Amino acid sequence: MTIKVGLLGMGTVGTGVVQVLTDPAGRHPLLQEVEIVKIGVRDTAKPRSVALDPSLFTSNLESIVNDPTIQIVVEVMGGVEPTRDLVLQAIANNKHVVTANKALLARHGEEILELAKRHQVYVMLEASVGGGIPIVNVLKQFLGANRITSIQGIVNGTTNYILTRMHREGGDLQEILADAQRLGYAEADPTADIDGFDAADKIAILASLAFGQRIPLSEVSREGIRNVSSLEIASAARLGYVIKLIARAQLVTGGLEIGVYPMLVPQEHPLATINGVTNAIAIKGDPIGEIVFAGPGAGQGATASAVVADLINVCALLSHPPHPLLSYMPTTAAQVVPPRENQFYARFTTLDQPGVIGELGTIFGRYSVSLETIFQQNRSGKYAQVIVITHTVREADFWQAIREIKELPTLQTVGAILRVL
Ligand SMILES: NC(=O)c1ccc[n+]([C@@H]2O[C@H](COP(=O)([O-])OP(=O)(O)OC[C@H]3O[C@@H](n4cnc5c(N)ncnc54)[C@H](OP(=O)(O)O)[C@@H]3O)[C@@H](O)[C@H]2O)c1
Repeated sequence: MTIKVGLLGMGTVGTGVVQVLTDPAGRHPLLQEVEIVKIGVRDTAKPRSVALDPSLFTSNLESIVNDPTIQIVVEVMGGVEPTRDLVLQAIANNKHVVTANKALLARHGEEILELAKRHQVYVMLEASVGGGIPIVNVLKQFLGANRITSIQGIVNGTTNYILTRMHREGGDLQEILADAQRLGYAEADPTADIDGFDAADKIAILASLAFGQRIPLSEVSREGIRNVSSLEIASAARLGYVIKLIARAQLVTGGLEIGVYPMLVPQEHPLATINGVTNAIAIKGDPIGEIVFAGPGAGQGATASAVVADLINVCALLSHPPHPLLSYMPTTAAQVVPPRENQFYARFTTLDQPGVIGELGTIFGRYSVSLETIFQQNRSGKYAQVIVITHTVREADFWQAIREIKELPTLQTVGAILRVL
């Protein structure tokens, strides 16, 4: 069965999606059934990094949402207008929609989802929050047993990158922002990120999924990071905190508290260790307790991964039973191979006499096992403990060296051998 897909947009995310769809080997078998039939872009003459039949491209986006052969529209063009109109048309034409567009969903989600319900089609939004972290499907499907009480996290990679650098380098927001713009981690107009608009869109979507409620964007409190100076960063660090832009929604007596704020996070909290452009989302539920998800929050590959996951979900619904995502049947036998390379920790109990470390080093050297560290500790009476950490080495070489070390007259025992992660 072929499932025909039309793309609205082939920029950063769309290109990632096309790369996956045109190279399905080794990915989910349902992807073999997906055929891209049209791609809507602004400029059909623009060179594209994936070689595709030029006749797939059109600047007439209406021709995609009105194409009767297309079953799924993947909206990765962004923006609110004309995107809203196009998505509504696609739904009105009974097409399923996969979208990465948090701005659209946070503003017009209700209208879009209502229409989808009427037309009995799905609007899939995994890529709209958390990039590659599969948080939307977790909330929709896998935490269904739970009464969720709070959801909070770092959902904007740009601000987290800036705050991380402010903590590490002690610089001021403006200079690090300028550098982030130069490196492509921040937009030329950084308002959506720095002032918390992007994070507000995302927490509105997440909270709506977590609590099953409609959340007008206007009710989401929002404070960006403009007032976080290097002084605050340094004082927070002295007090045992890091400053993070936290988006959070929690049930409190009388309702839902929802907002985006720069917050002091205790250094030992799981969100405090999330650095750079990484995102993380912590959910508290009954009976699960707290569960934390972390991963790349944006970027071509991560976002494409989420878009394609949604596409696979819809394809599974369109395919014949048994449902290919619920049934599980491995198709080929794995070829399991022995471990090839590892870094090792080894502890030897040896006679405490000169030259022992040299002997060990010589044997490891003979088998090309280079050492990162070797030292002696806990000398007691006749014996000493010699600790070794190797570089990443071939397993076979390492074990040959160990066989020879075991023959050394100065060796009492091999105390422990562990692999280093
Ligand atoms: N980039 C990320 O890391 C990321 C992460 C999560 C979510 N998202 C979301 O994914 C969506 C796409 O983002 P992106 O970064 O891929 O955007 P992008 O690189 O700017 O690409 C937009 C694409 O849509 C086309 N397009 C835009 N407006 C159009 C119009 N009016 N008519 C025809 N074609 C139009 C552009 O055509 P041309 O190619 O001809 O210019 C381009 O192919 C956005 O909703 C964004 O919020 C992005």
